[in-house]
Amino acid sequence: MQTSTSLALSEFEHDVLNGLQKNPKSLSSKYFYDDEGSRLFQRIMHLPEYYLTRSELEIFTKHKEAMLSLFNSEQEGFELIELGAGDGLKTKVLLSHFSERNVPFTYIPIDISEKALDELTANLSREIPDMAMQPVNDDYFKALNGQMTYSQYTKRIVFFLGSNIGNFSEERSLQFLNQLKNCLNPGDMIMIGFDLQKNPFTILSAYNDTQGITRDFNMNLLDRINRELGADFRTDRFVHYPIYDPATGEARSYLVSLLKQQVYLEKLDEWVYFEEGEALHTETSRKYTLSQMKQLCTQVGLKPIHYFTDSKHYFADMLLKV
Ligand SMILES: C[S@@+](CC[C@H](N)C(=O)[O-])C[C@H]1O[C@@H](n2cnc3c(N)ncnc32)[C@H](O)[C@@H]1O
Repeated sequence: MQTSTSLALSEFEHDVLNGLQKNPKSLSSKYFYDDEGSRLFQRIMHLPEYYLTRSELEIFTKHKEAMLSLFNSEQEGFELIELGAGDGLKTKVLLSHFSERNVPFTYIPIDISEKALDELTANLSREIPDMAMQPVNDDYFKALNGQMTYSQYTKRIVFFLGSNIGNFSEERSLQFLNQLKNCLNPGDMIMIGFDLQKNPFTILSAYNDTQGITRDFNMNLLDRINRELGADFRTDRFVHYPIYDPATGEARSYLVSLLKQQVYLEKLDEWVYFEEGEALHTETSRKYTLSQMKQLCTQVGLKPIHYFTDSKHYFADMLLKV
């Protein structure tokens, strides 16, 4: 008889099963962003402890004109591709500015979350009605495998904001930057948002807010597995446990099992076992020094042109040329 696991599994099913059965257990942070996860992340961005969004917003507000001069130095327009655009809160500041200045450009937000992308495009159509826009609902790694040609402009500027790069291991970051560079042309640009190393307590609080929204965001991963794979995770049997290690610059989030337990994934007809105190790793958010940022990018042959920081030096957006 064919078991359910021998049937073709979706990528989500495969990754969840693999992640829960390996030792130590881990799940990709990209699975945070179902509809509920996207909604919770919007709340995180407005939390007093979550300085990342405010810092990057300050950078964009303060430097929008300088950015425009660098993006459009040849005055021929460009396509602005944003990987993992989310609600575009910060990018909107630039998009409005470019539109007011009648700059020719097309905005191409790519996001795996259909809900986030639908809301973003609805908001932008209302707020900047004349802007050319071409949303892409896909995994950006898949988008990177294609040609990434979306509009009539030859120059492309790719945004990877919000410290999303910090979710990758160093090896994965290099692989990602290489992949990105290979699908762009000389003269194209990439802007990457990096969270900077700072007081470790400031960093830790960003992943452990007093209202418990980050905890709910982390726990939603288990709820999502319950909803989509018919699992019977009980979130009261796990604790949200974020840590920050200033020696490595890594903030890591875990869900730790409070007891020895077993969980059934009905759709896959599989059991998963947890020991008391066993950790499920759900996210890494790496923090950088300015020299580490530059080193990472130059290692793959990208040329740093300029970096912008906020007044507290909490965050940096680095502009690179291919
Ligand atoms: C941390 S949020 C950041 C959003 C926005 N860039 C910002 O800086 O505020 C990450 C966003 O990337 C999207 N995302 C995560 N992994 C993705 C992937 N592999 N492909 C496409 N989008 C992804 C999520 O749906 C979410 O909207």
